[in-house]
Amino acid sequence: MNILIIGGGGREHAIARALSKSPKTDKLYCAPGNGGISALAECFPEVKATDLDGVLALAERLQPDYVFVAPDDPLVMGLVDKLNEKGFKTFGPKANAAIIEGSKSFSKGLMKKYNIPTAAYETFTDEDKAVEYIKSKNRYPAVIKADGLALGKGVIIAKDFDEAKAAVHSMLVDGKFGKSGSEIVIEEFMDGTEVTVLAFTDGKTVKPMVSSMDHKRAFDGDEGLNTGGMGTIAPNPLYTEKIAAECMEKIFKPTIAAMSAEGRPFKGCLYFGLMLTANGAKVVEYNSRFGDPEAQVVLPLLDTDLADIMEAIWEERLDALDIKWSKNSCACVVMASGGYPEKYETGKEINGLNSDGQAVEAASSAYVYHAGTKLDGGKYFTAGGRVLGVTALGDNLQNALDKAYEAVNTISFEKAHYRKDIGKKALGK
Ligand code: AMP
Ligand code: GLY
Repeated sequence: MNILIIGGGGREHAIARALSKSPKTDKLYCAPGNGGISALAECFPEVKATDLDGVLALAERLQPDYVFVAPDDPLVMGLVDKLNEKGFKTFGPKANAAIIEGSKSFSKGLMKKYNIPTAAYETFTDEDKAVEYIKSKNRYPAVIKADGLALGKGVIIAKDFDEAKAAVHSMLVDGKFGKSGSEIVIEEFMDGTEVTVLAFTDGKTVKPMVSSMDHKRAFDGDEGLNTGGMGTIAPNPLYTEKIAAECMEKIFKPTIAAMSAEGRPFKGCLYFGLMLTANGAKVVEYNSRFGDPEAQVVLPLLDTDLADIMEAIWEERLDALDIKWSKNSCACVVMASGGYPEKYETGKEINGLNSDGQAVEAASSAYVYHAGTKLDGGKYFTAGGRVLGVTALGDNLQNALDKAYEAVNTISFEKAHYRKDIGKKALGK
């Protein structure tokens, strides 16, 4: 079959690679795609993921058997609904289910109503009431979140009253996150270890994937600003079988059931951002899609055909599918442009890649996922904040990390920066 993938980052490269391995896949298309993805799929750089009419027109022209919608914005904007109306089969939730990521006040309300463990919270649109609430709680750090999508940057962890007050003001009055911040959630700070669990679901059955761990801060030792993610490992050794069983009963199954009970069945990949606290696992956030760069370490460990899973989800027969995972570990180190997540330059030539965008000198267990690159005259150039996700498999986490860093050392571009401590915390170092 022919599949059109929507999106153009490292996550979409990982999805394209997984689908390219399927004997069922004839042709892959990707809009907009990027330099590295073009080795696997025909890319349409002029069609942006958020240009819903453009994507619909492209689908009408290509007539793919499936459209795999990977990023949050088009999901929240209703791309899947529009594609389904035109008769296209899809992977990804409709807008009424993607709201689980699109509105934090919705997801917090859902968890409260269905007793799904999460931090205690209140929502506000009025600055004075929000500040009054912070004063009355008098507990720091305080967590202040913009309600809507904000590229993973709409969360402020305030260490005292002044910071909390300023955060409220920046969102509700200064409009720092635009409409996304016109409503805010103030919640209790949760202390613990973060784990990501992605799960396949057809709205009835939920099948968790291997766990992972992201590294969201820009610099080593969790210093610097929050980013989209600077590196990942899978599985996450801190997520034990006992914790997994508890999450299945208290979080995963109840969430899927709650969404269906609300008339919002979720089909696709649901991202559970969890905090393992002294009082058990709690939900930090839901995302309505694969994580980026979580997909880059989870999908290489998938031993079942992703196209089979996509079909089973569409046809709502996920319960009958046995999904198998490799026993290996996988690590991904993100190479970013100097300055990211703030101002950065693009257009730097990337050294060390062959014509397929892969590391010339690295071991065969390494794979370079392209996040922000452009192919021009047979050469690769940087074209985004996150540029490459250098990934490797190993029979244990340390081996996977060693091979990923070995490959990183063979690639260079001006002002490249990457974290040198990916996986350290997971290894207890
Ligand atoms: P979110 O966009 O909701 O995932 O938040 C981004 C990051 O902020 C999370 O990955 C956590 O590291 C941190 N965070 C969010 N909410 C909390 C909380 N209630 N307690 C502690 N850390 C939090
Ligand atoms: N890596 C975090 C996310 O995709 O939201």
